[in-house]
Amino acid sequence: RNAGAMEGADADALVINPVCGDSMRIFLRIQDERVASASFLTSGCPAAIGTSSAATELITGRTLVEAVSLTREDYAEAVGGLPNSKLHCSVLASTAIRQAIENWKRKQLEGGAA
Ligand code: FES
Repeated sequence: RNAGAMEGADADALVINPVCGDSMRIFLRIQDERVASASFLTSGCPAAIGTSSAATELITGRTLVEAVSLTREDYAEAVGGLPNSKLHCSVLASTAIRQAIENWKRKQLEGGAA
């Protein structure tokens, strides 16, 4: 679910797992400090793709504070759990989401004086 790029996204972030080289790009549409919609492009293992997709579902409709507070464990749980050897794959989603929201906040501050 929610695979694909998003045109006109309010925020995005690209994260690369330095160990395996897998990558995730997240796109967010943000309205009233809430995630209105989210999509992703993940090049990686099934666990990374599954948790990326689950993460976009979990954060949609949540406030930015709630979205940032979700953890990789929440995303792993959302796909029914991951074996220990694949737990690191859910880090892509949690890192990308936090980074995209940070990017958005920075953009707001920079544009705040306008
Ligand atoms: Fe790289 Fe899963 S093996 S994210």
